[in-house]
Amino acid sequence: MDESLRPYRYRWPRDWLRRSPHWRPLRPTRFLARSMPEPADELAGDSRWPAFFPSPISLVTTTDGSRTGLEKVVAATVVNRFPYVLAVSLCRQPLSQRHHVRREFMNMLERSGSAAVQFLPPGADLDRVIDVIQSVPDERTDQRVAHCGLQVRDALTGGAPVFESAYMVYEARLAEPGRDFQGDPIYSTPWIDAGSHRVYFLEIKAIQLREDIARGRSQIHWRALPAWAPRLAPQPSLAAEVDRVRTDRYQKGYTPHYVFPSAGTAAFEADAIENGMAVKHLPPLPQDQVEVDNDRARWPCFFPSSAGMITTWAAPHVPNVMPCGSTMVVSRHPLIVAPCISYAAINERYAPRGTLDLVRRAGRFGCSVPFAHDCVVNAITYTGNISIRDDRDKIAHAGLGVYPADRAPVLSDLPVHFDCEVAREVRLGTHAMFLGQVRRILVRDDVSPQNPLDWCPWAAIRSVKPAEDPAPVTPAAAV
Ligand SMILES: Cc1cc2nc3c(=O)[nH]c(=O)nc-3n(C[C@H](O)[C@H](O)[C@H](O)COP(=O)(O)O)c2cc1C
Repeated sequence: MDESLRPYRYRWPRDWLRRSPHWRPLRPTRFLARSMPEPADELAGDSRWPAFFPSPISLVTTTDGSRTGLEKVVAATVVNRFPYVLAVSLCRQPLSQRHHVRREFMNMLERSGSAAVQFLPPGADLDRVIDVIQSVPDERTDQRVAHCGLQVRDALTGGAPVFESAYMVYEARLAEPGRDFQGDPIYSTPWIDAGSHRVYFLEIKAIQLREDIARGRSQIHWRALPAWAPRLAPQPSLAAEVDRVRTDRYQKGYTPHYVFPSAGTAAFEADAIENGMAVKHLPPLPQDQVEVDNDRARWPCFFPSSAGMITTWAAPHVPNVMPCGSTMVVSRHPLIVAPCISYAAINERYAPRGTLDLVRRAGRFGCSVPFAHDCVVNAITYTGNISIRDDRDKIAHAGLGVYPADRAPVLSDLPVHFDCEVAREVRLGTHAMFLGQVRRILVRDDVSPQNPLDWCPWAAIRSVKPAEDPAPVTPAAAV
C-alpha cells in the first residue's frame, strides 16, 4: 500500500465474530453466518455495516443556487455506461448517530439537480474536509465549504463548488427521463428510495482531471480489492487450472492494482485545459455517446470501484459467477447490495449477461467479496470474460470452490458472502440495477481482528519520475 494511504486504512472486523451472539458456525462449512435484517434495537446501538464490502469514498458538493452543500459519500458508483450515470446514495431515515438523515443536502440537490463528485489526494486538505463534514451537522451543510477554508471555484456545468485541490471532478446532473436502446422508459424519476437511503442517479456532464495526471506526469494508484491472508491459501493447482482452460475467447486482463493513466488504460481525451485541469465534456444525448468500438466504449476516465462476485444457479448443480465492478451497497437498513448488470446489446463489451436472466428467474443472487490474490485475480479474469452460456463449468474452470447453498452458490475461497433477495430491478439504459435485500451474511472463520480484510477507500497520486516510464499495467475491466 502507498505510504500516503496508511492513515486511511480500514480493517474489518474489529471484534471476534465468533464471540458475538449474532454469528453462528454454518456446519459443515468454514463459514460463520448471521441472518438479516437485524432488529432495530441492535441497529440503534451500532449501525456500522455488519460485514465488509469494499467501497470507495468520494466528496460530493451541490448548490441550491445561493447556498452550497458538502457531503462525504460511501460507495458512489458508475452504474450505467450510456447514458453515463453515477449513483450516489444518501441516508433518508434516522437509524443511529452514525446513520442520520442528510435532509438539507438532499433538499439542495433535489432543488438544483447539480452535483460535483470529487476526489482529493491523501493529505492535509482531505483531512480538513473530512473533519469539517464530521463536525458541522447536515443542518448547517451550507457552512461546510467555508469552514474548510480551502480555495474553491464553480463547476463548469453547474454551480456546485469544486475544491482547487481536487485531482478529479465528475460534474453531474440528476438524470432526466428518457428511453433506452429498446425504447423503454428510463429515469422517470431521477432517484429511488431503497430502504433507509435515497439513491440519486446523476448523469455525468463533464470530467475534470488534473493536467499533470492527464498528461501522464502523475498517476492515480487505486487498489480495487482488499488484502487478506486466508488461513488455507487457495490451492496452487487452481491457478494451473485457469491457465489450462484459457481459450482464444479470452479477451481482457484484470488487475486490482490499478494505475491511471498507464499503458493499458484508455487515454483521457480532453476538450480543453481550464484552471490546471484537463476537461472532457460528455455529449448530452446517450445516442451520441455510443461508440460501438469495444475499446472506445470503455470508461473515458478512472473512477474508483471494486467488484462483487455475483453468484446464481444456472441449473441444479450448475453454479455461475459474474464479476461485477458496478456493485454498490445502497441502503443500510435493510442492507441492500445492488449489482448493475448489462442488458443492452451494443457490442461485445456491452451485451446481455447470462447472469441477467438467472437473477430475474430466481429472484435472488449471492455476492461474494474477492480479495487481492493471484488465484482470485485469475478467477475474476476468467469468469469476467466467459459466459455461462459458453462454459457450464465456468466456476470450476476458474479454480473456485463452491459451497452449494440452496439460495445462491457461495464461493468458499472468498472471505465474505451476502445472500440477497431481489426487491426491485431498475433499468438504467445499458445496465439494470438489482436491489438485493441481504437475508444472510456468511464470513469465513479465518477472517478475524488478527487476520482482517485490509482496505483503503481512497486512491494515491504519485508523480512519475522523468526516467521512469509509466508501468505497463492492464486496467481493471470497465462495465
Ligand atoms: C473486473 C470486471 C468487472 C465487471 N463488471 C461488470 C459490471 O459491472 N456489469 C456487467 O454487466 N458486467 C461486468 N463485467 C463483465 C461480466 O463479468 C462478463 O461479461 C461475464 O463474462 C458475464 O458472465 P455471464 O454471461 O455468465 O453472466 C465485469 C468483468 C470484469 C472482469
